[in-house]
Amino acid sequence: GLLVGRRVKSRRRWGRVVGVLREFEQGCATSIGRLRQVVDAMAVEMHAGLASDGGSKLKMLLTFVDTLPNGSEKGTFYGLDLGGTNFRVLRVQLGGSRSSILGCQVETQPIPQHLLTGSNEELFDFIATRLKIFIEKEGNEDVLPLGRTRELGFTFSFPIRQISVSSGVLIKWTKGFSIEGTVGGDVTQFLEEAMARVGLDMKVSALVNDTVGTLALSHYHDEDTIAAVIIGTGTNACYVERTDAIIKCQGLLTNSGGMVVNIEWGNFWSSHLPRTPYDVALDDESPNRNDQGFEKMISGMYLGEIVRLVLCRMAQESDIFGDAPAPSLAAPFSLRTPMVAAMHEDDSPDLREVGRILEEALQIPVAPLKTRRLVVRVCDVVSRRAARLAAAGIVGILKKVGRDGSGGFAGGRSKGKPRRTVVAIEGGLYAGYAMFREYLDEAVGEILGEDVAQSVVFRISEDGSGVGAALLAASRSPENQSTF
Ligand code: GLC
Repeated sequence: GLLVGRRVKSRRRWGRVVGVLREFEQGCATSIGRLRQVVDAMAVEMHAGLASDGGSKLKMLLTFVDTLPNGSEKGTFYGLDLGGTNFRVLRVQLGGSRSSILGCQVETQPIPQHLLTGSNEELFDFIATRLKIFIEKEGNEDVLPLGRTRELGFTFSFPIRQISVSSGVLIKWTKGFSIEGTVGGDVTQFLEEAMARVGLDMKVSALVNDTVGTLALSHYHDEDTIAAVIIGTGTNACYVERTDAIIKCQGLLTNSGGMVVNIEWGNFWSSHLPRTPYDVALDDESPNRNDQGFEKMISGMYLGEIVRLVLCRMAQESDIFGDAPAPSLAAPFSLRTPMVAAMHEDDSPDLREVGRILEEALQIPVAPLKTRRLVVRVCDVVSRRAARLAAAGIVGILKKVGRDGSGGFAGGRSKGKPRRTVVAIEGGLYAGYAMFREYLDEAVGEILGEDVAQSVVFRISEDGSGVGAALLAASRSPENQSTF
């Protein structure tokens, strides 16, 4: 009697867990119809954001980048990259003929966590100091003609309002940064003041978003590049827009007739997005509530946390993770996105890696195979939704510029073959997670149809946004002028 009773109970509990999974799957559904609605909403919001400031949740920020590097740039330039998980300092030597980056020295380090919530001065002093140490190591090498000021491209991956290519004011922090005194201030000025404090003579000649740096590097290698997407700690995209389509800035004149626009799509929102109670819970516990809704469904900072919230719910409904849920399972951000990727891609027959990660990260002891399979399912649902939404975002951009094959103007389908279109993609989540890439590619194919999808090339550039910023500094340099 007792044995049967227990079995019934545990079966009922398993039933509840499956119920939680089903409900979650339905909540995350991204049918092709729904993705098309997201595509349309993205294109519509882009229009609205270009029409007037505040006209959309999409800020559609002007970058004042009207020319992109094309390979003719010469000289030695520097890059700084701040805004993801890592901080980078780099030096690039350019040879002046296509695709000849003669040399590139990069130093990478994780951003010390305490800086994310420290003071403005601390942050910029840290950056300036790292840069100084890097420069001092150059020693006696003749990297620059004597007496010339070193030129720097600064990748600062947050929304900034620019009035020139080399300066801009921080609009808000994202991705867990929360430092008082930076919002509303000129980022270039903060850096230049810090450089003066540490005694470093350098000039910021380009202040760019990571999407823009990525676009620049990809365009340097391949002039068909028209957009760049970041899928890493955060997510965002930029693209080349015609100046006459930027209604909110009438009379804007550039040599090329175009300008790179930073969409800040992380803040995109639409009622068509598949939102679940777990997304609401994640938003509630975040420091930027009601902000960056699209980013919170897609990027590396959040995917692990969504998975954890679902597993938590399952632990409440059952004893599949043991009788008393471990404290780690209840601790926000204890499951990081790289672990989700590793579990999702575990192809061992007994899902050994899944077991190991559950134990290490969440203190869940030896989960049976059935439970491990369930966890993999949750990872799959979360990552698949993210990848498909990012795909819809990308197609939204293609639609806006008439490259989605729908026969619009501006170089859409010119009878017969659609034009080759390159989209640069960077970020740890995309670069380091094969299943995510597959889901993204698959969704783009579904939405566009294989015919048109074949004309769209995704170009991965790992860690390219800093190099791209240095290239932009180079193309701003008086001796290196070029156009689109
Ligand atoms: C966040 C930032 C954005 C950046 C993106 C990727 O969305 O607001 O500026 O491009 O993360 O790093």
